[in-house]
Amino acid sequence: MDISIFGLGYVGCVNLACLAKSGHTIVGVDINKNKVASINQGNSPVSEPMLADIIKTQHSKNRVRATTNFLEAIESTDLSIICVGTPLLSSKKTLDLKNIFAITEQIGKGLIIKRKFHTIIIRSTVMPGTVDKIISLLEVSTGLRNKKDFAVVLVPEFMREGTSIYDYYNPPYVILGSDSEKGLKAAKNIYKNINAPVLEIGIKETEILKLVNNAFHALKICFSNEVGNICKKFNINAYKVMDIFCKDNKLNISTKYLKPGFAYGGSCLPKDLNALVAAANRQGLRVPLLKSAITSNNFHKEIAFELIRSFKKKNIGIVGLAFKNNTDDLRGSPAMYVARKLLANGYKLKIYDKNLHFVKIIGKNKKFMKESLPHIKNLKVDTLKELVRFSEVVVIFHKSPGIIKYIYNYPEKKFIDLVGHDNNGALKNYINIF
Ligand SMILES: NC(=O)c1ccc[n+]([C@@H]2O[C@H](COP(=O)([O-])OP(=O)(O)OC[C@H]3O[C@@H](n4cnc5c(N)ncnc54)[C@H](O)[C@@H]3O)[C@@H](O)[C@H]2O)c1
Repeated sequence: MDISIFGLGYVGCVNLACLAKSGHTIVGVDINKNKVASINQGNSPVSEPMLADIIKTQHSKNRVRATTNFLEAIESTDLSIICVGTPLLSSKKTLDLKNIFAITEQIGKGLIIKRKFHTIIIRSTVMPGTVDKIISLLEVSTGLRNKKDFAVVLVPEFMREGTSIYDYYNPPYVILGSDSEKGLKAAKNIYKNINAPVLEIGIKETEILKLVNNAFHALKICFSNEVGNICKKFNINAYKVMDIFCKDNKLNISTKYLKPGFAYGGSCLPKDLNALVAAANRQGLRVPLLKSAITSNNFHKEIAFELIRSFKKKNIGIVGLAFKNNTDDLRGSPAMYVARKLLANGYKLKIYDKNLHFVKIIGKNKKFMKESLPHIKNLKVDTLKELVRFSEVVVIFHKSPGIIKYIYNYPEKKFIDLVGHDNNGALKNYINIF
């Protein structure tokens, strides 16, 4: 296939080299004449392991060239890949997408002349809403129609500098975001030799995914560094600790704790995190990331409270009071926190928790329950039916499939879901926290 690649930086050059190696004929486009000249001499404008060799070989096979003439590049190709830089604005408020929109304008001009279906793949990192804007800019500037005359497909790039060629062939997945079947087919075709699952997801989810992935990578790095700093203060070998930490593929390095839901709680996690932060602070060490986890968790409880308050109703039903499902442990329960705050603000409450049997609650759990909610016996009901009948707003803190039928049967009551049940998105009385 004849492909034009806009932007000959790290991402553009790696895509150029690897796609040429797959047998495609590539023309690179850049505003930087030195980069263009470099490619035309068979050299790589950027330094990455293996890249120079691939470009040299593919140049000698006449599969790669470069130009500053964007019109010629669009006219002579069937598909364009946008790899231009999207740096952070100096205000730090968003990514600067001016390069993306400059290329969009150029592609529009090319399409008016070319009058043949063209696929545009975006590999640059963008902000939510960018693809829609590109499509509408192209439609308005050319009079052409999305899906009929052109297609836009977002394919986030997951390579890391230093291992970019290896990463190009071995990404975690190939994500395709587009509303065009023809565009998706073209993208699948050019990335077919990549060793990874191909996932077609919505455009908006694709747009945010790369930002979310990088945010998580930053969290991991900062977490390890804060652990390193704490260990050093206590004369503990941080490398050993994190090596063992990473061997836990069940809870640590796993999908556990990575589903959006409600705040954490319980008798262990909150106290241990607090103790670790306090120990670090006592050693004169700041651990802003760990500390902010406590702030973030508290904030999430307030979000739930504010959401309940926004409905301006007084009778509130709570589904699940223990700190999580399938336990009767109330200690550190975030649901308990919200319940107490509701009572303190004059709301009337009823609580349903299938695991809460007062005769079985003993020891510290009982003490905590009596101190936190002394009148809990008057608040507890034995069935979901009783709870729903009493409530104007039902707040679901635990996964409870049994609640679904009530959401359908009581359209006049609001159901706030903090834990993400499926299939109720279309119901007006069903409010998912996310
Ligand atoms: N570098 C990485 O490791 C990496 C990894 C994944 C994703 N990304 C994303 O990919 C995109 C590109 O990153 P990069 O590191 O390759 O950027 P880069 O800064 O190395 O290269 C960008 C290139 O785009 C060119 N350019 C700018 N405006 C142009 C225009 N109007 N026409 C033609 N060329 C133009 C520049 O001259 C430059 O050569 C960014 O959105 C980045 O966030 C980068």
